[in-house]
Amino acid sequence: MGQFDLHEKSAATYLDKAANGSGVDKCGLTVDALTRLQNQLRPRQMTDIVEIGPGGGIALEALTGAIKTQLPAYIGKLSLRLLELDGIESESLRKARRGFGEIGESTLHVGDAREIDRILGQDSSDVIVACAVLHEVYSYGGGLPALKDAFCAANDTLREGGYMAYRDIVSVPGESLLDRRKETFHSESWVRFSRMFLPYYLKNAQHPYGAEQDQVSFEQGLGIVSVDDVDPVEPVTINAPIGVFRELQRHYITFRDHAWRSDAFEVAPVLDGPFASDWVDERQGRKRIHFRFNSEPGDNPLSEIEETDSEGNYVADCDVFDPAADLFLAHFLEQANKPGTEQSDIWKRWVDREGPETYVYYTLDNLIGAVAAQTFDHTGGKKMLLPRRISVSPRAYYTRYLKRNLERAFVDGGQQVLFQAINPRTRPDLVEAAMTQIVANCSENTVNQVHGTLA
Ligand SMILES: C[S@@+](CC[C@H](N)C(=O)[O-])C[C@H]1O[C@@H](n2cnc3c(N)ncnc32)[C@H](O)[C@@H]1O
Repeated sequence: MGQFDLHEKSAATYLDKAANGSGVDKCGLTVDALTRLQNQLRPRQMTDIVEIGPGGGIALEALTGAIKTQLPAYIGKLSLRLLELDGIESESLRKARRGFGEIGESTLHVGDAREIDRILGQDSSDVIVACAVLHEVYSYGGGLPALKDAFCAANDTLREGGYMAYRDIVSVPGESLLDRRKETFHSESWVRFSRMFLPYYLKNAQHPYGAEQDQVSFEQGLGIVSVDDVDPVEPVTINAPIGVFRELQRHYITFRDHAWRSDAFEVAPVLDGPFASDWVDERQGRKRIHFRFNSEPGDNPLSEIEETDSEGNYVADCDVFDPAADLFLAHFLEQANKPGTEQSDIWKRWVDREGPETYVYYTLDNLIGAVAAQTFDHTGGKKMLLPRRISVSPRAYYTRYLKRNLERAFVDGGQQVLFQAINPRTRPDLVEAAMTQIVANCSENTVNQVHGTLA
């Protein structure tokens, strides 16, 4: 695997938790899998769960809570094996394991998702959880071949009838990441971020945009300009594959959160504890941001805010706070573009760690089609991963923010697929149930492709 910051990735305060306040939507599919399995179990029969890449234990903590509340009389006994890369340990994961200890036993195994069958044993698991992991396997493990290895190894590790609860960053609508479009960015922070980030990403990341026809171009004023000549205070129109916009959008919010957390703006929001998720309307993604001023408020756009909470933090509606944060970010990026500044150090540390990461490697269509074909071929048609449930769980706060700032924002959140390891020869009923999901959620091309695989 390539390099990434192990500590940051496994910290309990990593992006998902800090900005959303909860890991609940990370465990919904696992609970669904256990509910389905429960009907086939004898009392006290063992259910073997595996979680790949538990990181700081957010999904595990949520799963423990969900089992206690939603499946309090779960019929089987629970055994959990965690598979993590070497060197990833955190107090928050230990805490999550202690919590799980109240309902089952857990063990921690060191290794790579691509070798899970060799490490944990073939046909040894009933449920495999992979939450926000596979984009890292893609980014650091070598792209699509690494993903194929991980899915095939998971299929081998599952018992027939077992489930894989897959969740990763929600992809773009449509069949291809490579379809092109033009997008205009108006605000200074987005223009500055685009011109600093995109060249780095396209040069250094593992991504599918290397072909001549996938080139990214920038237009300003009368026509195409080189990225170095983009005027940061004028709108810029970018012409690029649709997947590149998805990366730009996702990396922007990741970096903005990172800069907040580095105390690099004049304000620092409260990103942990109960004040981190003070919702006005959770479904609409509207929350109140609790923050401190890092220095005298001066004439910054939040200086008028007077409301404070019980700990003396200032409190602002996110629709007021976010535009101010974008202004801070524009100023930050202006400084970060100058060599030798404190801001340029923060930018470099972030871009070296996060810049090479591709969040979206497949559309939902491509994912379903590829996983079906690859697992079928790998086992000679004896066992394959087919979807039994497909859903999207939007991160309402980010999506609200993005829609207010971009003409055509993508929904941000999790894309979830509950795969089942099915023997297509002996279980035509399960294949049919899976096809119903595919027909409801995928394009005709993918439906035909899966039919072709099964033929
Ligand atoms: C973004 S974190 C997600 C953590 C947790 N699953 C969650 O949803 O909060 C990704 C995790 O995947 C782990 N990971 C990355 N590549 C892996 C691989 N090839 N095999 C096993 N784990 C991997 C990382 O160490 C990290 O803990």
